[in-house]
Amino acid sequence: MAVEFYRHALREEDVQAVVAVLRSTFLTTGPQCREVEARLAAYLGVPHVLTMTSCTAALEVALRAFGVGPGDEVIVPAFTFVATATAVLHAGATPVLADVDPDTGCLGAAGVVRALTPRTRCVIPVHLYGQMADLEAIRAVLGGRKVRILEDAAHCVEGTLRGVRPGQASDAAAFSFYATKNLTCGEGGALALRDPDLAERARRLRQHGMTASAAERYQGTKGYRHWDVVDLGVKANLPDVLAALLVHQVPRLDAQRVRREALARRYEAVIDALPGWGRPMVRAEATSAYHLATAWAPRGHRDAVLAALAEREIGVAVNWRALPQLTWVREALHADPADFPVACELGDRTLSLPLWPDLTDAQQDEVIAALRAVARGLPRA
Ligand SMILES: Cc1ncc(COP(=O)(O)O)c(C=O)c1O
Repeated sequence: MAVEFYRHALREEDVQAVVAVLRSTFLTTGPQCREVEARLAAYLGVPHVLTMTSCTAALEVALRAFGVGPGDEVIVPAFTFVATATAVLHAGATPVLADVDPDTGCLGAAGVVRALTPRTRCVIPVHLYGQMADLEAIRAVLGGRKVRILEDAAHCVEGTLRGVRPGQASDAAAFSFYATKNLTCGEGGALALRDPDLAERARRLRQHGMTASAAERYQGTKGYRHWDVVDLGVKANLPDVLAALLVHQVPRLDAQRVRREALARRYEAVIDALPGWGRPMVRAEATSAYHLATAWAPRGHRDAVLAALAEREIGVAVNWRALPQLTWVREALHADPADFPVACELGDRTLSLPLWPDLTDAQQDEVIAALRAVARGLPRA
């Protein structure tokens, strides 16, 4: 039996919500976006949520709303998806890479301390694979400095650390609704913020710096109202056609997280019994969103494992090679892999296994049997 790496968990109610928008007049940012924003704000316990076209856009809008730009440095983990760093460049600031903690793969206090300079204006911790980075520890090493914390929560709508959710203890949190994410509309994202003034600025910045959205401008046949442009913004507003896909998924998130956790913990037990293998540690005080199920293959064998699993028709992925292992990042940011030993070791060893809410026990049995067989076939270290 072949097992795909990922299948979405969309239901008929999601399809019908999109059809209803298609039959209405209003296709772009409007009532569906407002509904998702309200549901996410209530779920996260954060007052302001703004839907966007992607997490990448949400990160850039947040930085611009903070006033972070040319001459400013932003600390980014060396082990993340490339968008965490490119969003900083698009905002005109300079990403400064920091190595990550070896147990979780997340940016921690030690990495931040080494990367801090007098020009640091922001830190972007990434909630890797659904487990939150330790914002409290990061905040502690920042001391009284005026440094913003922007969470890259692309993997983590549902996670908590010591009872705190993304967006509750930072300046902003950016989410992704990309095709494989726990909450998805194919392409999309959101920004959660606590400060009303920052939220108002981010709302304008996501749509050209305009003072009124399409929904606010739309008066039907009741006349026309002028709007102004008061900022240099970007174009990052989500259309209602896509937002409609998200509305009914939000109340299903917790039940799906429970299923993800059950599947992930079973993988963890299997990986823990394989000699030379590893995996990210999930802290006792954390609830992970379990976006990805990660295994660290024995050193030097990851690509052989990927090939052997593919031969057995098990869908796999790599999330990711570390930033200094990517040609453009190495050249543009002058990042030497030798300076980021933890990130680069993870980049060499990591692989992601099938993990989605509708994955059956029988399908997981198949993946586990293949993983054990492939591990047995590796040369002994
Ligand atoms: C950690 C991380 N940050 C940012 C992104 C970018 O998300 P998007 O594709 O919604 O822009 C991703 C996408 O997978 C990601 O994994």
